[in-house]
Amino acid sequence: MVKKWWMESVGYQIYPKSFLDSNADGIGDIKGIDSKLDYLKDLGVNLIWICPFYDSPMDDNGYDVRNFFDVAKEFGSMDDVKDLIKHAHERGIKIILDYVLNHTSDEHPWFIESRSSKDNPYRDFYIWQDPKIVDGEKRPPTNWGSFFGGSAWAYDEATDSFYMKIFSDKMPDLNWKNEKVQDEMIKIAKTWLDLGIDGFRIDAVSHLDRAEFVDTDVCTDPICLDWHKFSNLPKVHDYLKKLNKEVFEPYQALTIGEVGGEASIEQGIKYASYDSNELSMVFNFDHNWCNNLSDVLNPKKMTVRLKCLKKAFGKWQEAFKEIGWLPLNWLNHDQPRLMTQYGHYKYPLESGKMLATALHMMRGTPFIYQGEEIGMTNYPFEDVSDFNDISSQANYFYHLSKEPDDPVKALKKAAVTSRDNPRTPMQWSSDEFAGFSTKPPWFPVNPNYKKINVTKNLNDKNSLWYHYQKLIDLRRHSLYKETIVYGSYEMIDPEHELLYNYLRKSKNETLLVINSFSPKKVTYNLTKYQIIEVVINNYKDYHIKEHTIMLKPFQSIVFKVEEKL
Ligand code: GLC
Ligand code: CA
Repeated sequence: MVKKWWMESVGYQIYPKSFLDSNADGIGDIKGIDSKLDYLKDLGVNLIWICPFYDSPMDDNGYDVRNFFDVAKEFGSMDDVKDLIKHAHERGIKIILDYVLNHTSDEHPWFIESRSSKDNPYRDFYIWQDPKIVDGEKRPPTNWGSFFGGSAWAYDEATDSFYMKIFSDKMPDLNWKNEKVQDEMIKIAKTWLDLGIDGFRIDAVSHLDRAEFVDTDVCTDPICLDWHKFSNLPKVHDYLKKLNKEVFEPYQALTIGEVGGEASIEQGIKYASYDSNELSMVFNFDHNWCNNLSDVLNPKKMTVRLKCLKKAFGKWQEAFKEIGWLPLNWLNHDQPRLMTQYGHYKYPLESGKMLATALHMMRGTPFIYQGEEIGMTNYPFEDVSDFNDISSQANYFYHLSKEPDDPVKALKKAAVTSRDNPRTPMQWSSDEFAGFSTKPPWFPVNPNYKKINVTKNLNDKNSLWYHYQKLIDLRRHSLYKETIVYGSYEMIDPEHELLYNYLRKSKNETLLVINSFSPKKVTYNLTKYQIIEVVINNYKDYHIKEHTIMLKPFQSIVFKVEEKL
C-alpha cells in the first residue's frame, strides 16, 4: 500500500486577502495568517494551502503575478513569509503555495519585453499571432472565448499582433512550447521549495497546451468558449513529467493540480495515478454542479440533486481506489459558499455538520476552505458595483445581454455563483468588521457576522467548528484512523434519493457512514449490520426500532459495525 505524509493530513485553504488584517489597512496579510496558526492547530489541520501572495497588480487578486520572487506589498514581505514557514513547521503544519504557471501579469518584465518588438528575445515567452483580416478589419486569430468573458486573444498595438489570454487581458498566457519558459518556471518552483515550503497547488494546470489555431464550431456566438481548445491536451503531460522529474520528485513535494472544467476521470488518472510521474493529486469540480445554482434566483429555493452528487464523488473514489489518491473538498475560492450551495437555511447547524461528515469520512485528503468551519454563507449583493471579482462583473453583463430588460435578474444570477462569495472577510468575532480588521475591509463583511463568527463557535461546544475539530481528530489521531485514512470506500444505496451512505473498510473494521440530505425524517433499515459503536453523530442521540433507524432532519451518523452474513 502506498503511504505518504499527505494522505494522513487534513488541509485548510487560506485566501490571504480575506483571512486576517494585522496592520489595519483593511487587507488581510501574511502576518495575519501567522497570528492564527494556533487557531489552525487547535482546529487540528496540519497542512495549509495559501492562495497567491506574490507581487501583483491584482487584476485577479494575485493570480496575475508580476514577480514570482517577491511578495505583494499589501501582504507583507519575504521575511514575513520566512517567519510564517518557520512558525507553521514548529507547529507541525506544512505549507503549500499556488504555483501559477499558465500565465503571468501583463506587467511582468517578460511580457513587457515580449510585447516591445517582434524580435525581442522574450517574444516567444508568450503566444503571439497576426490578426485575421476579415472584410478589411483586424480580427482575433480564432473565435475562441476566454474564461472571464470576451475573446481568448487581446490586440496589442505596439506590434500589431494578438496575444493569447484565456483569463483576463492582463493575464497573458505563457508559451510552454518554449523550453526557456519551462526552465524559468522550474527555477521559480525550486526557489520556493528551497525556502522550505512543502509543495504546490498548481493553478490552471490543464491549459498549458493548445489546439491548432482553428475556429471552434461548438457554438454560434461570434466568440465561443470551447475549453477543449486549451484543456488536457497531450503536451501538458510532457511538461508535467519534466517538472516532476526535475523538481517535484527530487524535493518530494506535494503537488495538487487544478484540473477545472469537466476533466474526465481518464484525464485525472493520467495526471495523478501513483505511476503517472506527474502530480500527487488533482482537484476536480464535478461535485460543484449538483444543484439548481445557475437557475435559482432565491437561495432559499436551492435544491440539491443528491444522486448527481453521489455519482460525482463516487466515480472518482471508485476510479482512484487502488491507483491513486484524491483531495476532498467541497469548494474553494472560486465557488459559492458551501452552506448556500448545499446547506439548508432552516437547519444550518445540522446540515452543515452533515456535509462535513459526508466529505471527511471519504478516502482522500480533506481540505477545509476558510470560514467553512463556521458555516459562512454567500454575500447579499445589491448592485453590480458590489462585485470586486472580474469574472462576476463579466457574468452580470453576459446575463444582462441575454435579458436587457431585467437587470435585477442579471444581478441575482451573477450573485449566486459569484467568486466574491467565498472571498468576503473571515468572520472572527462580533466586533466591528467581524474582527478581521479595525478599518473598513477591502470587501465588506457579510452582514450576518454577529450570528456567524469564530468566537461564537468556540464558545459553544455544540457548534459546527467543534464538529470539524472532531472529524479531523478522528482522521488523524483516533483508533479508527487506519480505516478512515486508508480503508476502502464502498458506496451503498446508490439509488437512494435522500441518503448518501457508504462503507469504509479495513482489514479488521467496517464503518457505516449514513448522511441524510433531507429536511424531513427518513428511516433506514439496518438489518444487515450489527452496530458496535457510534463514531460520530450530529445529534445527541439516535433512534432504532426493530432494526430501523429513524433519522432526524439532516442527521448524519457513523457507526462501527459488523456486517451480518
Ligand atoms: C484558477 C484559480 C482562479 C484564477 C484562475 C486564473 O482557476 O483558482 O482563482 O482566477 O485560475 O489564474
Ligand atoms: Ca493588512
